[in-house]
Amino acid sequence: MIKAAIMGYGTVGSGVAEVLDINRSSITKRAGEEITVKYVLDLRDFPGDPVQDKIVHDYQTIVNDPEVKIVVETMGGVEPAYTFVKAMLEAGKHVTTSNKALVAAKGAELIALAKEKNVNFMFEASVGGGIPIIRPLNSSLTADEIEEITGIVNGTTNYMMTKMSEEGLEFDEVLRDAQEKGYAEKDPTADIEGYDACRKIAILTSLVCGQQVDFEDIHTEGITRISAADIKYARAMGRAIKLLACSKKAEGGYVAMVAPFLLPQTHPLYSVSGVFNAIFVHGNVLGDAMFYGSGAGKLPTASAVVSDVVDIAKHLDVNIAVEWSSRKLELVDYKSLKNRYFVRTTAEKAAVEQAFGSVEYVTAEGVTGELGFLTECMSEADYEKCAAQLDVVLQMIRVA
Ligand code: HSE
Repeated sequence: MIKAAIMGYGTVGSGVAEVLDINRSSITKRAGEEITVKYVLDLRDFPGDPVQDKIVHDYQTIVNDPEVKIVVETMGGVEPAYTFVKAMLEAGKHVTTSNKALVAAKGAELIALAKEKNVNFMFEASVGGGIPIIRPLNSSLTADEIEEITGIVNGTTNYMMTKMSEEGLEFDEVLRDAQEKGYAEKDPTADIEGYDACRKIAILTSLVCGQQVDFEDIHTEGITRISAADIKYARAMGRAIKLLACSKKAEGGYVAMVAPFLLPQTHPLYSVSGVFNAIFVHGNVLGDAMFYGSGAGKLPTASAVVSDVVDIAKHLDVNIAVEWSSRKLELVDYKSLKNRYFVRTTAEKAAVEQAFGSVEYVTAEGVTGELGFLTECMSEADYEKCAAQLDVVLQMIRVA
């Protein structure tokens, strides 16, 4: 029997206990031994809950118990998760986490520490919830040079974009709806400003490059400026607006960004709707691959965490190598990225054409008193120069 501990008994942590319970027999078969939860660390008590007798309030209880081999971290945030996880690894315990903030900030260091202690630090659930993407990148797509990863990696914003698109609603109405349904947090900043997606693409890019990519270096725009009028234009163009997190091989390295994009119907991510996530990967020998599924939620995320627990149970004496060194990767400036841009302005056609040259005008039903147009393909830097010549730019959305 393998003893485990769960740190953080919130949505995901309680999901992990539930998954270990409901799939006990198949998990035991796959892990080779039964996995039982000995401790649950939380600030709160849970009277009446199946884990009520396992609750502890001091992480040192887990650190000091040599019987505990696997620790699940589902607390979220960098601290105190980092202090606790580090202590567990130093004590020779394996750790799996769903915490993207922790992995993005401290992943390289914790991977190195796990290697030094001959244990594992796993984080399948930190990107894409229940979708397997970390293990495929680390273990399966190892024959390829990954040239692009583009994902819809935030379920909250994808739900909101889908709802705005289907019902023609304004951003604030859709945010309220998402909060009522429990898809958006009371403080939705991390999702709607793109910070959550930014950490996720930083993790994926670090894995692809084998070096530390600092999320602070990734140009990030959220969805807060997307309006019902933008959606009308998108519909007129037969496109959908999605928050994409992308990372591409470029001359001199990798370039990454998070921003809303206008996707044509032919784009592999066009039909990814609601709270679903999908990650598109292009390898130089593989070609295209897509990973699609539930990117958040209690049981899907717990499924990914428990898959790590099972993997660890099968490798209790082996450190599975993860290529992610702490050497910082300097990203190529996103301003070198080339796109077409959809622009809305109150300027006259003459001014638009003087600034951008040849453009394609777009009209949207019910939107008046402004011009909408698509530019030619140009770099971000060139777009900025052209846009600076217009007195008013109401909106700019990149075209994928
Ligand atoms: N807030 C995140 C999302 C949760 O909406 O995708 C999963 O990381």
